[in-house]
Amino acid sequence: MKIAVIKENRTAENRVALTPQVAQQLIKNGHEVLVESHAGYASNYNDEAYTKAGCSILSKSDALATCDVLAKVNAPDDQEIGLLREGVAVISYLYASFNQELIQKLNLKKISAFSMDAIPRISRAQNMDALSSQANLAGYKAVILGAAHMGKIFPLLMTAAGTVTPSRVLIYGAGVAGLQAIATAKRLGAIVEVSDVRPETKEQVESLGGKFIEVKTEETAKVEGGYAKEVSAEYLAKQKEAVDKSLFQADLVITTALVMGRKAPVLITEDQVKQMKLGSVIVDMAVEQGGNCELSELDKIAVKHGVSIIGQSNLPSTLPQNASELYAKNIQNLLTHLATNDGFKWELEEDITKGTLMCHQGAILK
Ligand code: NAI
Repeated sequence: MKIAVIKENRTAENRVALTPQVAQQLIKNGHEVLVESHAGYASNYNDEAYTKAGCSILSKSDALATCDVLAKVNAPDDQEIGLLREGVAVISYLYASFNQELIQKLNLKKISAFSMDAIPRISRAQNMDALSSQANLAGYKAVILGAAHMGKIFPLLMTAAGTVTPSRVLIYGAGVAGLQAIATAKRLGAIVEVSDVRPETKEQVESLGGKFIEVKTEETAKVEGGYAKEVSAEYLAKQKEAVDKSLFQADLVITTALVMGRKAPVLITEDQVKQMKLGSVIVDMAVEQGGNCELSELDKIAVKHGVSIIGQSNLPSTLPQNASELYAKNIQNLLTHLATNDGFKWELEEDITKGTLMCHQGAILK
């Protein structure tokens, strides 16, 4: 199959869907890889590296007009969809439940669209799970970003001039991003406390050296396919009570709490921010889903009541080399699962195909 890779056109997107290394493996398996000139430049992969790997460097319109599969990070825009041939496959993030209009446009062209954000959370699909591979990097970067905006260091430091006490980090949500944030903050020497609605995360938090903050209630979050479902207002009130002390002592707060298919829960109100320490920092990783802090502003650093609230979106894109490396592997593993070098297998009832295929042969499947 001819697989096209083009330059991402979302603002501030530095990732690329396939790296030269992964392209080379796909070529070895019998595919052709068509790369738009400069597609990988922002991820530190130049055209020469793709050429060495055996890819053809083309213009965007030629790549789109001749490919059988378009591999992207973000969904194709109208112009890109317009340039594709009827009936080809697209693999990218699509977020179909929020983007029905996009799915309809893809479907009008009889495109088979696979969504990288819909990989089922089953063990055999772990190596295709782009949400996890990217969240892992984002969790690391959130700590580094927070550290860069703090007026103090993480570790305990004993010097001739006196002892510096370690910083306190509070993390909301111990999913993929949260667990990586715990590990990173611990490695830097901070005291780390964590809140999550899924009680099974307690053990994982403790195994990384974090302290799990217990909420005294019988209620636990229901989990569906690995994702937390919404908890009641009473639970959130009790959680607030249990976490407030840690929040008001924290130097850095990282929020990662998401609820499947819903706006992110508000876990830090303005009233709580007012009670936080002067100079403390919040990194709101849920900002694109509405934010866990009610004062977060998308792509801004808002300084409110002496607290810096960082609402940077798309953290994986700030580590484009690693993020592209892992995303490209996820795409390769999905493609290898879905297709032979002669084409797709179209096993429509198979779990991974069923989970990720949003439209096919003129029918919307989700
Ligand atoms: P996520 O990004 O959907 O949510 C982040 C975290 O926020 C979750 O741990 C969730 O429980 C927590 N949360 C929700 N509401 C909260 C609240 N009010 N307060 C505090 N925390 C709250 O989750 P993510 O990181 O995508 O994954 C969650 C879990 O799914 C993983 O820990 C893992 O167990 C499982 N998983 C399994 C995979 C597989 O088997 N292939 C792949 C990826 C994840």
